[in-house]
This record gives sequence, structure tokens and C-alpha cells, in this order.
Amino acid sequence: MAVYRNTFSESITSDSLTVSSDVDPALVEEVRTGLQKTPKSLSSRFFYDAEGSRIFAEIMHSPDYYLTRSEYEILDTQKAALLRQFTPDNRPFELVELGAGDGLKTKILLGFFTSQKVDFTYAPVDISADALEGLVIDVRRQWPDLQLNPRHDDYFSALELLSGESNSRNENPRKVVLFLGSNIGNFTSDEAIIFYQQLYSRLQPGDLVLTGFDLQKHPAVIHAAYNDRQGLTRAFNMNLLRRINRELDANFDLSAFDHYETYNPENGEARSYLVSQKAQVVAINALDMTVPFQYGEIIHTEISRKFTRNQIEQLAQQTGFSMTGWFTDCKSYFADVVFER
Ligand code: AVI
Repeated sequence: MAVYRNTFSESITSDSLTVSSDVDPALVEEVRTGLQKTPKSLSSRFFYDAEGSRIFAEIMHSPDYYLTRSEYEILDTQKAALLRQFTPDNRPFELVELGAGDGLKTKILLGFFTSQKVDFTYAPVDISADALEGLVIDVRRQWPDLQLNPRHDDYFSALELLSGESNSRNENPRKVVLFLGSNIGNFTSDEAIIFYQQLYSRLQPGDLVLTGFDLQKHPAVIHAAYNDRQGLTRAFNMNLLRRINRELDANFDLSAFDHYETYNPENGEARSYLVSQKAQVVAINALDMTVPFQYGEIIHTEISRKFTRNQIEQLAQQTGFSMTGWFTDCKSYFADVVFER
């Protein structure tokens, strides 16, 4: 999963500073502002460089990270019911997947829909060009006749794709937007509302959104998913410092930072932090900036929200959608939910 885009096509020079042409300007801005805040913060959207995406793929297969397994089970057991929701009248539709990544779970649907000779096109959207290219190659190999319309973009820009573009046959088929994997959990509640409002304004009546929500459950199960025994979440979180060292010529000493995770069952928020293990000063040379840390000082890096059914119904109501489908795994850990415009 990857969210934001933009790489510089040329170097930016501010005062005497030159930031390399490959650096994401949004990362520059995030590091500049986030490390000057109290408390310090860096957004999880910057986790997904090549190494971060590789670690995330490992997390998805790890025993403690139940989310991917749960959603896989839902899509596998409910694919026929989902198809009936997507096209009760056998009309063609366009499946637009926001943050498609490697499409691991979506391939269950693609395989089933093609076996049923369903008339649909698949439009995967991802910010990672590598992930998207891999997905396209794989899908073309497995289903050579499937009509593919990939787009290298971030979620918000890709929403334009939804605004009534006709397909190659000059039709405007029903849109079915997939937003899987609990990506919605990485938004604050305000961001989530804005996101669904934007979806609503771009979709047509009858269009659908299928969202994967991680549900609230025993807090220990959730905490373990973000504090896994293999240390993958730790590596994922620490990789952000490695990325800043490499891209912004910084000197974070990784052995002087720790990964720390909290889960608050009162508000359903899992939060990831990096903790300074000593008083230290870090230089971010490309930004001509030094950042002092106290012993125990944190950088907040990620929020992963867990939902109740009530909250999901409320989100639909607040943004104008009707909730028309609710599918869970056998443990009710996760829900894939259909909102109709
Ligand atoms: C991508 N996103 C839904 C994951 C999550 O569960 O919040 C990212 C992740 N962070 C730690 N482990 C996985």
C-alpha cells in the first residue's frame, strides 16, 4: 500500500541547500515540520520506500498480523455474494482499486469474476510504480483477456478517475471502488470523513465502495499485530529513519532509537512511536537542520484505527452513503463493508 506521490524532476535549491532530485518533496516538508513539533511526528505515508514495501509484504504474511489473513478469508468465502452486490443486473462494471499494492487479495476476485465470464475492467491505482508494474505483469499473465487500466497515482488524485470518465467503448459503467487492507485505519477520523465525502462527490448514484475495516477486538490481539514476535513492525518503523538518513543525508543512529507500540481500547487507536534511548542531537544535513532529542522523547509515526460496526454505520451516514453489505471472517476480526452512493 502506498499513498502519496511526487518526486522532484529537478533539484530544489533553497538558500544554500540542494536536495537531491530523487527526493519526495513531501518527505522534505514532513521532516522539516514534523521534527520541529511537540510531540515530534512523521507520517506513516513515508514508510513505503522499496525496503518499507518489502517489509510490509512480510508483515502481511506474519502470524501475528491477522488483518491480511482475515480479509483474504472474507474475499474467498464471500466472492459470489460480493459479485451479486457489484452487479445484481449483470451490467458491466469497473473495479477501481485504491492502493492496490501487489493485489494479493484482489486476485481472488479477479480469478472468480473471470471464471464467471463477468464483463468488468480492472483499474488498479498505486503510488509505487514498482508494485503497480509487478501487479500488471502478473494480472496480464494470469488473465490475458482482462481489460486493465492501471494508474500510477496517489488516492486523492486518483479520485478524478472516478468522475465520469467513459471507457474505451464510450460507456460509463458502474464504478466499484475497492479500498481494502484497513488502509482507512491509517487516516484520522477527520481525514476519513473528507475521503468518503470526496468519493461521494465523484461517484454516481448506484456506484459502490468496498472498504476493509479492522474491527475492535481483544486489545492483546491488536497489540500483538503491531508488536510482532519476528520484529517486523519494529523494522518497518525503524526503516523510516534509515530512509531519512539516505535521502536527506541525516545521521540517525538506529541503535539509539526503539520501536514502541500502544493500543488504546477506549478509542480503538493503535499508535507507533520511535523512542530516543538517550539525549542526542541528530543532523539532517540536506535540510541544514539539527534535531535535539531528550532521553525517552518520542516521534509519533503511525495511527492504525480499529472500528466498531456503529462507527462504520456512522461514517456512511455522515458522508451520504448507505451501508448495503457487511461481510466478516469467522472470528469477526475484520469486515469488508459495501457503501452505496
Ligand atoms: C497499511 N496499513 C493498513 C497497515 C496497518 O495495519 O496500519 C500498516 C502497518 N503498520 C504496521 N503494520 C502494518
